[in-house]
Amino acid sequence: MEEICDQLEEFKVASLLTTNCIGRPLRITEELESTSLEAWKLAGQGAPHGLTVVADRQTGGRGRKGRGWFSPGGMNLYFSVILRPTFPPAQAAQTTLVAAVAICEAIRESSGVKATIKWPNDVEIAGRKVAGILTELSAVQEKTNFLILGIGVDVNMTVADFPEEIRDTATSLQIATSRCFSRSHLLAALLVKLENYLEACQQQGFSAVRRRWKELSSMLGVGVRAELNGKYIEGTAEDLDDQGRLLVKTSCGQYERIVAGDVQRLRTQ
Ligand code: BTN
Repeated sequence: MEEICDQLEEFKVASLLTTNCIGRPLRITEELESTSLEAWKLAGQGAPHGLTVVADRQTGGRGRKGRGWFSPGGMNLYFSVILRPTFPPAQAAQTTLVAAVAICEAIRESSGVKATIKWPNDVEIAGRKVAGILTELSAVQEKTNFLILGIGVDVNMTVADFPEEIRDTATSLQIATSRCFSRSHLLAALLVKLENYLEACQQQGFSAVRRRWKELSSMLGVGVRAELNGKYIEGTAEDLDDQGRLLVKTSCGQYERIVAGDVQRLRTQ
């Protein structure tokens, strides 16, 4: 089937969607400050598990650590899913790993490109970031109210479309393949994957996703520099444990577990 650049239309995505609850309902808007901000507001008003907010463009797209997310119209995917899990807040970081697996697989199956996961929340193609995940949590003590899973995928951007400061580190499906992709098809594929993996996790625990995360990760077995409690450690990323923490063996032979901190690959000489 020939893939075409398309408009992101609600009825079109809905007709492609085979999920039970993720993406239901689906709200596609032309412009929002941030889909995550909107989803947070709706969740606070009682919106259900699965409701997904999509925007063609964002005027204040948000990234991790207070950074922005470049969000021009007509070319990429920006969406946020409301989740109301029964697990405690400490398990929220696992949802980021589940989403990374879903994005990675949806990209691979839709484009044939070998996307990989860079701890904890980036999906990359050939070492360049193609998608990011922002997981935000509302909780009171040990009770999770809701999670907002915000996902941005660079789909049909050309090199010239990227701002200069991220041109060397970012990529898109279009750049990787020289083809244009249907955002509606990719969004539907992604939401289906997300639902399947979330369900598997709920029924079988995190082990249902752990093996696949390890297969798709570009971090395991390589030298890394990781942030741990405000300090930096260096070592080898050896494994993902059964709770979704990255196990790093430091140069002095000690094991450290990273929950959600930034980890950079060390350059090999
Ligand atoms: C990151 O890698 O820093 C996370 C980027 C997350 C971006 C997405 S785009 C949709 C959703 N709305 C936002 O404002 N941010 C997330």
